[in-house]
Amino acid sequence: MCGIVGYVGPRPSQDILLAGLARLEYRGYDSAGVAVIDDAGSLGMRKKAGKLSVLRDSLAESALPDGSTGIGHTRWATHGGPTDVNAHPHLADDDKLAVIHNGIIENFSALRAELIAEGVTFRSETDTEVAAALLGREYANNGGDLQRAFRDVVNRLEGAFTLLAMHQDQPGLVVGARRNSPLVIGLGEGENFLGSDVAAFVEHTRKALAIGQDQIVAITPDAVTVTDFAGTPVEAEPFDVSWDAAAAEKGGWSSFMAKEVAEQPEAVANTIRGRIKDGQVVIPELDGLDDLFIGINRVIITACGTASYAALVGKYAIEQWARVAVDVELAHEFRYRDPVIGEDTLVVSISQSGETMDTLMAVKYARERGARTLSVCNTQGATIPRESDAVVYTHAGPEVAVASTKAFSAQITALLLLGLHMGRVRGTVTDASADVAELLELPEKIAKVLSSEQAHVEQLAHWMSDTRSVLFLGRHVGFPIALEGALKLKEISYIHAEGFAAGELKHGPIALIEAGQPVFVLVPSPRHSALIHSKVVSNIQEIRARGARVIVVAEEGDAAVLPFADEVIHIPLAGAMFEPLLAVVPLQIFAMALATAKGLDVDQPRNLAKSVTVE
Ligand code: M6R
Repeated sequence: MCGIVGYVGPRPSQDILLAGLARLEYRGYDSAGVAVIDDAGSLGMRKKAGKLSVLRDSLAESALPDGSTGIGHTRWATHGGPTDVNAHPHLADDDKLAVIHNGIIENFSALRAELIAEGVTFRSETDTEVAAALLGREYANNGGDLQRAFRDVVNRLEGAFTLLAMHQDQPGLVVGARRNSPLVIGLGEGENFLGSDVAAFVEHTRKALAIGQDQIVAITPDAVTVTDFAGTPVEAEPFDVSWDAAAAEKGGWSSFMAKEVAEQPEAVANTIRGRIKDGQVVIPELDGLDDLFIGINRVIITACGTASYAALVGKYAIEQWARVAVDVELAHEFRYRDPVIGEDTLVVSISQSGETMDTLMAVKYARERGARTLSVCNTQGATIPRESDAVVYTHAGPEVAVASTKAFSAQITALLLLGLHMGRVRGTVTDASADVAELLELPEKIAKVLSSEQAHVEQLAHWMSDTRSVLFLGRHVGFPIALEGALKLKEISYIHAEGFAAGELKHGPIALIEAGQPVFVLVPSPRHSALIHSKVVSNIQEIRARGARVIVVAEEGDAAVLPFADEVIHIPLAGAMFEPLLAVVPLQIFAMALATAKGLDVDQPRNLAKSVTVE
């Protein structure tokens, strides 16, 4: 939530900031703003409610003097509505000082009252302006030493924040700090960058430094210094960004979501690559960490949203292969009760961004309680892997569309790999050859679903563009896919949608069925379990008898569903644990096509942000 970019160097900064914001816009698009110290040494600022394009238009209409020190922000509103005045940057010290912020400053009311008592007046309703005003005061108290003043300020803030600041009297210097909110450094030649994530600067440099919790960074064109909140120097962790700027471009696709759906074969292949050895799954990052998996009596997988549905698939896989009980817990629920966990619990967190605050807090909580922690994450240098004992990276590449697609497939793939890896370590999987073969065939099978069913599903969506409600049913590993199908539709097409376990239908939801109600049913292969298959076919008959319009997703050759389906979407034959990766694809296409048919922006749905860095 909220994207942040900072630049110091020899070049005019405005284009660099705007390009960075364009790549970060997925983090929030309620407003955008930039502040620049121009070549005459004055600080200028422009900010606008609405998407980045509004700010761009404003700058095109009347230019802001450019300069080589600047900060930029794209906002997802928390404190104060999405207005020009609440947009960032916020200014202080007679508008010579600019601050941008991501997160929530929890003690902002007390600080605001303290500053008002001293005569400070505020223009906005934001917590950020309080931090700016506090920095203005401390800047004066510290004789114009921005770094010391900034340190004093961050030590007074409670909550979660990434904060960047610059002062017109100190051109060529941007300071930043982070607590439970992301910030990474980009290292250039004679220039340096700060960003919420590497997308902010990847077109300029792929050399980066990850900053730890409660650390402060100061960048100048030639130097980067990192300290803790007490001012003690610390080493930042260097890493190379594994993808280039082109990977985060739309590249001729109608939307990022369309591109990312199409990239799923590659995302899955990249997540598997390098993790199969001698017919077994061996995850190199877990080398020497067998102790994580031995002696545990329980696994808890924690995540939010789409990642939690990947977790549900992971539960089936890990239980089957590693023979250990697995619970899936929504991170925000897990954290705020009193779960029974300890040294014999492995808590696996799943997060595309690696920054989801709910998930991060769950991981920290699990660690405090002595649990072993492992994260499955798509973003290098992110906070959640840094807070975990081990990490298995998904290699989906940058996911820009708010609706998660290729990251979901990569998460399921990583969990299948983890289940087989754990099974090998625990001695419960001795021959993984059939499952490894299934894994390796996945990219090709996903590509086949895309090529053979895309046009069919788009046509269906087109016909159904006036639909007010869609239901999704699944059993076994099809259940999480039903949940995911419903979430995709809700978040980008704003249509009421619900996913159910097919067996649960008769316990209530069947009352929703009336004539013409569209219902997607995910039918598991009869080759895996004739019993489960027959139960789902019975469920189809029950809803058909009540007038539902049934759209079935079934494996090629499943003749048993044909008499009862209004539409059949075929997926290739696959093992039980691998079917979700095929069945989800038509549901993603359906949501995307329906939202497009309604004229909606599939990449930036209303009210949402990609990376949810507030609780
Ligand atoms: O970055 P994360 O995987 O931790 O994000 C978790 C959810 O916020 C995310 O999956 C969300 O549900 C997506 N918008 C779904 O498409």
